[in-house]
Amino acid sequence: MLNVMMVAAEAAPLAKSGGLGDMVSAFSSALSLFDIDVSILIPGYDCAFDRVVAPSPIGYLRGLPGGDARLWRAAMPDADVTVLLLEMDHLYAGRGHRLYQDEHGRDYLDNFARFASLSAAAARIATGVRGVKRPRIVHAHDWHAGLTPLLMKLAGASARSLFTIHNLAFQGNYPPGLAPYAGIPSDLLLPAPRDPRSIEFYDTLSFMKAAIVHADGLSTVSERYAREILTPRFGNRMEGVLGAHAHKLTGIVNGIDDALWNPQTDSMIAQPYGADDLTGKHACKKALQQSYGLPVDPFAPLVAIGSRLSTQKLADVVCEALPAALARWPRVQFAVLGQGDAAIEQQLSALAAAWPGRLGVHIGYDETRAHRLHAGADILLHASRFEPCGLTQLYAMRYGTIPVASRVGGLADTIVDCPTLPSDVERQKKGDLDAAGFLFDGESPADIFHALGRALDAYGIPPLWRVIQRNAMRRDSSWSVPAQRYLSLYQTLAGHVRRRESTPVCRSVSQIGRTHAPVQRGRRSA
Ligand code: ADP
Ligand code: GLC
Repeated sequence: MLNVMMVAAEAAPLAKSGGLGDMVSAFSSALSLFDIDVSILIPGYDCAFDRVVAPSPIGYLRGLPGGDARLWRAAMPDADVTVLLLEMDHLYAGRGHRLYQDEHGRDYLDNFARFASLSAAAARIATGVRGVKRPRIVHAHDWHAGLTPLLMKLAGASARSLFTIHNLAFQGNYPPGLAPYAGIPSDLLLPAPRDPRSIEFYDTLSFMKAAIVHADGLSTVSERYAREILTPRFGNRMEGVLGAHAHKLTGIVNGIDDALWNPQTDSMIAQPYGADDLTGKHACKKALQQSYGLPVDPFAPLVAIGSRLSTQKLADVVCEALPAALARWPRVQFAVLGQGDAAIEQQLSALAAAWPGRLGVHIGYDETRAHRLHAGADILLHASRFEPCGLTQLYAMRYGTIPVASRVGGLADTIVDCPTLPSDVERQKKGDLDAAGFLFDGESPADIFHALGRALDAYGIPPLWRVIQRNAMRRDSSWSVPAQRYLSLYQTLAGHVRRRESTPVCRSVSQIGRTHAPVQRGRRSA
């Protein structure tokens, strides 16, 4: 049985700040249905310890970059997936659900130690730790786990590494002087042109670059994003490095947990419904209007915005577009669920105060509300400057909520755009319309306004809207195809034999100290 260990900073529902956490868990759970032994190594945050099932200690990992750690094994709630928790309370505990930043939005000062420790623990497990089956494939996700492939090489691990880029905008770039603390030899920090193994990136030590250069395989979460990141517009200065490693880069569009996000069985929404009977969606719309203080009107188009409130999501530009949209379409209602940039949060709250009964805003992070938003809305406005994959539009489509989205990355790969209206109506009569949303180019308020106008025009033609809704709801967003693609990547990687590395093994950290007989505990002690 192929043994795969994921390494990530998030895994829903244990710890989540966005799509990364959803992807890691849903994908692992899908893999467990194949003949694969899957585990996920994540930091031992309090929220993770609170939610795992049957945690038991395995032993100690001593001398990680951030100090000594205790390793725990547990199970994921509702999935046949093992969770390995890295307990280092001084690095991970006592920070609530804030995984990366403090309450003022500032990155934690010890993030280097926090995530170098995660990567180092993964590399240690890859070389063999008593009590944990040695993985054949170590699959690291995003910059937080980015040092894993390099540290595996340095430790002489025979396991193969795959690194998935979920968001190239976050790279984990730190002062090069920190290299020794992570057990990285200083010759790997020489200016890049002199050494192709270098992880130096514009005078920093880059976790992201280390992963791109040293992983055996690279993937990202949509095919279009895999091409986009090779260009200066989307490459975040990493396009040159990626270009040099493009031969090992693949794009695989994410799936979703289609049991959790299923309008037919979702207990969080007002009334269940499916593609063939949308009666329940009307009840969900009514409930959403009530909860956002909007007039209950089944015919008023209800536009949802649900995302991190960041410039990635063009939330700044959406704020500029909203007043014109509210003025132009007096019947349209908006419901916003989001959290993020403080200035954008304030702008949205001010707009809600200026447009009572038209724009409802909920600032905060709330999973239940997210389900209700997708169930109750007619349209999802999902603007993005870049979108590696995007899960939000996949959730919305499954709930018959039609995305109006930027033509970038995974949004363009997953949304079939509706062509201009007159021909739509003709084609819809012939029954061959496959559109499931509206894509737009550009990043200006006018671009957003215009795209919203196209969707509202279609909404005004109920038989057409119904076809678009049905197409969206019937899209296969399950993990079955993408999981197969990852599986063949794993098989290809596992078939390869690593040549002996010339880099000397540098072990600033000792092997596992001692192990304990597993004891069952509901909650770890300090
Ligand atoms: P990203 O990871 O870039 O934020 P995705 O679309 O891939 O974008 O994933 C976002 C995930 O985070 C979805 O599960 C979405 O429902 C969730 N989410 C974002 N903001 C909120 C919020 N304020 N409340 C609840 N869920 C949210
Ligand atoms: C990142 C990306 C998002 C993607 C998610 C899961 O957070 O911003 O587009 O869907 O990872 O892969």
